Formats: sequence, C-alpha cells, structure tokens
Amino acid sequence: MDETPAVPFHIAIIMDGNGRWAQARGLMRALGHRAGAEAVRRTVEAGRELGVRVLTLYAFSWENWDRPAEEIRGLMDLLVEFLKAETPRLRANQIRLQAIGRLEELPHRARATLQQVIDDTASGDAMTLVLALSYGGRQELVDAARRIAALVREGRLLPEHITEAHIASHLYTADLPDPDLIIRTSGEMRVSNFLLWQSSYAELYVTPTLWPDFTKAELAEAIAAYQHRERRFGRSQPSPRQDEAIGPAGRRQVVG
Ligand code: FPP
Repeated sequence: MDETPAVPFHIAIIMDGNGRWAQARGLMRALGHRAGAEAVRRTVEAGRELGVRVLTLYAFSWENWDRPAEEIRGLMDLLVEFLKAETPRLRANQIRLQAIGRLEELPHRARATLQQVIDDTASGDAMTLVLALSYGGRQELVDAARRIAALVREGRLLPEHITEAHIASHLYTADLPDPDLIIRTSGEMRVSNFLLWQSSYAELYVTPTLWPDFTKAELAEAIAAYQHRERRFGRSQPSPRQDEAIGPAGRRQVVG
C-alpha cells in the first residue's frame, strides 16, 4: 500500500486579516480586501496545482452584514469583479464553482453573477471551489431544522427516524464531503461560525500570516502539517488512510 500521506481532499479557509494588512500600510480597508481578492486567485490556483479537490473559502460571513454599508458594497463589487475576471481561468483549469450560505440575501447583481459562473463552470471536474457567502454555521443549522421540521409536519418523516445523515443532507453542503483541514489566517484562534457541523473531525491550522500575504508556499506548509497529524475521528486507533473512504459522489462514507 502507498504510504504517502494524502493531500487533504477538502480544505476550508477562514480568510482573515485584510483590514490589518491595509492598516499596517496606512491604506483604506478596501485596498486590503482588494489584496485579499488577489490572494484568493493565487490560492485557488495553488490548491488546484497541489491536488486539493474541494476548496471552501469563507468570503462573507453572516456577521459581515453588520459592517458599514460602504464596506459591504465594496466587498460585493469586488466579488462580482472577481467572478467575472476569473471565469475563463476557472474553466481552463476545470474548476467548478459552488456557493453556500443564505444566497438569497445577496444583492441581485452578486447573486445573478454567481449563478452565471456556477452554470458556466458546471462541467469542471478537477476541483470544486466553494464560496461561503452570507454564510453562518448556526444559520445553516436553523435552515436545516426548518426544512426537516416541515417534512415532519407533512407526515413524511418521523422525529425518531431523524439521523445524522438526514441533518447532513439538509445542510447547504449536502453534496460536499466534510472538510479535512481548516486553515485560519491572521492568528485568531476562533471558529467564527464556520462549518460548525461539518468541522467535527477537521484538523485545524492557524497561521499568523494576514490573508493578503497568504501564498502557495504557505498552503503547502499547512498541507505538510496536516500530513503529520494522526486523525482518529474519536477512536482510540488512527483511522485508515484518509482518502480510502471517498464515495462515488465525492461524499465521505461512514467508516466502521
Ligand atoms: C477578513 O478581513 C476578510 C473578509 C471580510 C472576508 C474575505 C474577503 C476577501 C478575501 C475579499 C475578496 C473575496 C473574494 C471572494 C473576491 P477583515 O476585514 O475581517 O480583516 P481584519 O480582521 O484585519 O479587520
């Protein structure tokens, strides 16, 4: 058996530190976000080159709606600009775009552009890029609970038949495997309402690097650190090879 440790199938990143990056240079926050968008472009390319199959980026949290209107407008404009500029590169590299979150809360232009790029990249099979937008882990669980409760009310599901798999299948991430590795930049030791259900057994990697300074070398370093971890999934023995249990649709199978 090949003993080379696997590259994490799914990496999720809490991109943090755009504001501090700008402040340290005496620049407006907006320029920090712009440099952050460039780091997104670099990281998507790096993820694809390093063999990551799913890359989820926390691009706009539910809590970010509390920021000043001008900053929100700037972030949405940047998102639209980024999506339009990157579509040819995503297509050329067989990268499929997906989005998770309360997407209905996004401004119309951002939502329409997002849908357009999701449609235009649907055949990409080398990597899935997932943008978490208007995303909150608690809000996701509330939305799942509402949908499951509706099934119960309609008599289509008995409460005692609700399983972990039911809950997982009503999350925004229903079609995605759980993250293997979660990276957070800017040194903050918080989960910040990100993938609360899905991160149960994820390995965490926190770097002091501010997001706009994040590079391919740093992504490779995080992957190398992950490869030295012993994942147990709550068991007393290490798990089998981590890439053994991927199901046909890319969903991780429940092992043992
Ligand atoms: C945190 O910086 C970052 C965000 C608000 C989310 C990430 C946004 C980007 C990388 C911009 C562009 C994204 C795309 C997809 C084009 P912060 O403002 O919280 O930094 P601070 O904690 O230093 O103030």
